[in-house]
Amino acid sequence: MEKREFDKKILCIGAGYVGGPTMAVIAHKCPQYKVTIVDINANRIAQWNSDKLPIYEPGLDDVVKAARGKNLFFDTDVKKGIEESDIIFVSVNTPTKTFGAGAGMAADLQYWEKTAREIREYSQSPKIIVEKSTLPVKTAQAMKRILMAGDNPGQFEVLSNPEFLAEGTAISDLENPDRVLIGSMETKSGLKARQELVDVYKNWVPENKIITTNLWSSELSKLVSNAFLAQKISSINAISALCEKTDANISEVAGAVGMDSRLGNKFLNASVGFGGSCFKKDILNLVYLCRYYGLDTVADYWEGVLKINDYQKERFVMNMLGNMFNTLAGKKICILGFAFKANTGDTRESPAIYVARRLLEERAVVNISDPQALENAENDLKDAEGSIFFIKNPYEAAKGCDAIAVMTEWDIYKSLDYENIYKSMSKPAFLFDGRNILHHNKMYEIGFNVFPIGKASLTHFSNE
Ligand code: UDX
Ligand code: ADP
Repeated sequence: MEKREFDKKILCIGAGYVGGPTMAVIAHKCPQYKVTIVDINANRIAQWNSDKLPIYEPGLDDVVKAARGKNLFFDTDVKKGIEESDIIFVSVNTPTKTFGAGAGMAADLQYWEKTAREIREYSQSPKIIVEKSTLPVKTAQAMKRILMAGDNPGQFEVLSNPEFLAEGTAISDLENPDRVLIGSMETKSGLKARQELVDVYKNWVPENKIITTNLWSSELSKLVSNAFLAQKISSINAISALCEKTDANISEVAGAVGMDSRLGNKFLNASVGFGGSCFKKDILNLVYLCRYYGLDTVADYWEGVLKINDYQKERFVMNMLGNMFNTLAGKKICILGFAFKANTGDTRESPAIYVARRLLEERAVVNISDPQALENAENDLKDAEGSIFFIKNPYEAAKGCDAIAVMTEWDIYKSLDYENIYKSMSKPAFLFDGRNILHHNKMYEIGFNVFPIGKASLTHFSNE
């Protein structure tokens, strides 16, 4: 029995990296609504109900603890959740398809379609269905067709409300979003449903930041936003290769380019490559869509963003191999950081996965360290062959190694005692900074042979 009545009952299907934090913030900001998150993964739900949440995200614990049990609930009962809700956010996973037509490119929509069918089966009253997962354009139409095929046509309105949060800053992104985008059919009932969702966000987001469009624009905007962001990183990474061949310095170039307000100074950090669950998947989706419509030149253009990313990861490995006397066999390498970016334990598409596997192929011994992502790292590499160790303490992980490769820009790596680390390593000691976060001159003075991204290397070898 609920102790009090709520203005609205909101359900989210899928308690993942997007659904969990998003709903926690809605519940926190809107105590007048009851927010329930359901997931078929009982283990995940148990974690959301425990002291150790299933994902690491700064600020998330506080928000969840403030609302959980009051107006925020985590449950496995999908049927009950659907029956009692007014608004249903769908935030199930939509990974890249691994089989059949479109394998490796298109989104695998099986979880999403199953959800649509469940909503149809269990609904007994009109509902607004909100697409939160990133989906290919026109999915809302497919969703509507599935929902309308039942005995209660007319009781569902489908909206697109893509989530733009970035991991590691999810809570602040949700609390102070650059924009909230809501797409709907431009029919009377579509516009009414759209307004209802606008009213939810208006509880804490200024109205001028809530933008409304038609359904297809909303779905496409999400893919395009991620494609543009990834393109910016691939652009700077492509130039980092040129900088390494010349006397140019990528930080200076990025600084000069980024001062142009038309370009902006964000997302210009050259790196070993971008990772995360969205960029690759969304660009593949965009490419697939373009090819489907016969726009091969457009598809090739966006595919180039992914090619540069793959090139950058392989270039990093070849740089290690080439500078460590063309053999890594038996050499010990410490990978500092396995998460795809700092402040998350998420390792999906992390460049560290690729680099670790390649180093193992070269028969190196690999020590992996990360403050939050070791469990995921072990899972990502469970089928990898070779000598691989997971060591949380970075000093222990680096001990006796020939090289350190920085893969994630965790703050703690900026202030380690590198003098002691250097002393504990095999000589000559190498440092490959895949994130350009260390003070390279200082590292060189300590004794390391230093290889940044897009900058001249600093080595103690003479040019004999
Ligand atoms: C991204 C989008 O930013 C977000 O809006 C969308 O909702 C989901 O996808 P996310 O993948 O969580 O978010 O992280 P993001 O901060 O975008 O970083 C993605 C990758 O790019 C990381 O591997 C990061 O390290 C890398 N990156 C980012 C760079 O290599 N250089 C940069 O300058 C910025
Ligand atoms: P994202 O990063 O987009 O949030 P995740 O993979 O972290 O993606 O989360 C998606 C969640 O959706 C998973 O926890 C998964 O168990 C859940 N899920 C998938 N299909 C269903 C379904 N039919 N009903 C309920 N939950 C589902």
